[in-house]
Amino acid sequence: MLSRLWPSGKNVRKFLKQFQTAMRLNISQILIVSAALAAFGGCGAETSRIAEKSGAAPSAEKSTKKSWTIGMSQCNLGEPWRVQMNADIKVAAEKHPDLTVVFKDAQNDTLRQRAQIEEFVSAGVDLIIVSPKEAQPLTGPIAKAFRSGIPVIVLDRAILGDDYTTFIGADNVQIGRAAGQWIAGQIKDGESIVELKGLMTSVPAQDRHTGFVEGLGSKGKVVFDADMKWLEPEARKEMDSALSRFDDIKVVYAHNDPGAHGAYLAAKAAGREKDILFVGIDALPQEGVAYVDQGLLNATFQYPTGGAEAIDTARQILKGEKVPKKITLKSRVFTGENVKQGGEVLQ
Ligand code: FRU
Repeated sequence: MLSRLWPSGKNVRKFLKQFQTAMRLNISQILIVSAALAAFGGCGAETSRIAEKSGAAPSAEKSTKKSWTIGMSQCNLGEPWRVQMNADIKVAAEKHPDLTVVFKDAQNDTLRQRAQIEEFVSAGVDLIIVSPKEAQPLTGPIAKAFRSGIPVIVLDRAILGDDYTTFIGADNVQIGRAAGQWIAGQIKDGESIVELKGLMTSVPAQDRHTGFVEGLGSKGKVVFDADMKWLEPEARKEMDSALSRFDDIKVVYAHNDPGAHGAYLAAKAAGREKDILFVGIDALPQEGVAYVDQGLLNATFQYPTGGAEAIDTARQILKGEKVPKKITLKSRVFTGENVKQGGEVLQ
């Protein structure tokens, strides 16, 4: 309240001058009074934000607003899947003239992404969408933004705890399990498998591994595994060492399509790509699905970007509607047999 009465910008000097004359105060007295008022005003602002803490009903101010600014922090734009996510968000947001999305690219740098969340809070955006690089280090800044009253949509990679408005993503345990079952159906007992994991400090990689172990059961044997950090060049490098150590590899299970493709390229360079099945995850039409169609990969499991859903959900939140804490997206499987028919929904 006091912060509203306190003059802003260029009016401050004029106000202080009149105040000084009226009260016959000297400059140092003026400074003390102004600091006290500012602190008081600041307190008021803080209190009203805490009272708005989301999860509880959004403030009336938000639900009657005419236009909104969304801050979107993308963990990197070096991977096609993330470029697609931003494009999906942009297309969905452009249908609503009352929405402005400010995109930031964290360039795969956790510290940069933490700072971006803080910048969005200081800028006073109406809502934050974040696709975090890693779970643990992003949890603090996201929780802080949420607790300050800004709704937060966590997209694709989960964080720890539950200090955010909603999480949107597909079920990575289900996807991993389906990949494990599919592979179990293709191989004989004891045959050799390479698992190329995504960044293991991110939740999708952990879940895709857990599901895979469950789905594979006692079939096959993982003889080599490595963290390729979701990156094709890393996957290629790791596959080079797997190939040099094992001459009977039957399957590569990679946690994403760039990983599976990197492994394929390594095997092709070694003249062994025809002896090995390659399985990935993401199924972008122009990437994984095209690889399956061309016979480079044997299967890929769709991991939808959730970009359009994030915008729909953001609008609901901004209009004051309640949304579920978790929104689970459906996945599809594409294999050589069904790719021409558009794959099949994962049950
Ligand atoms: C892109 C990506 C995708 C993967 C997703 C998991 O950064 O690695 O390939 O499915 O992130 O969060």
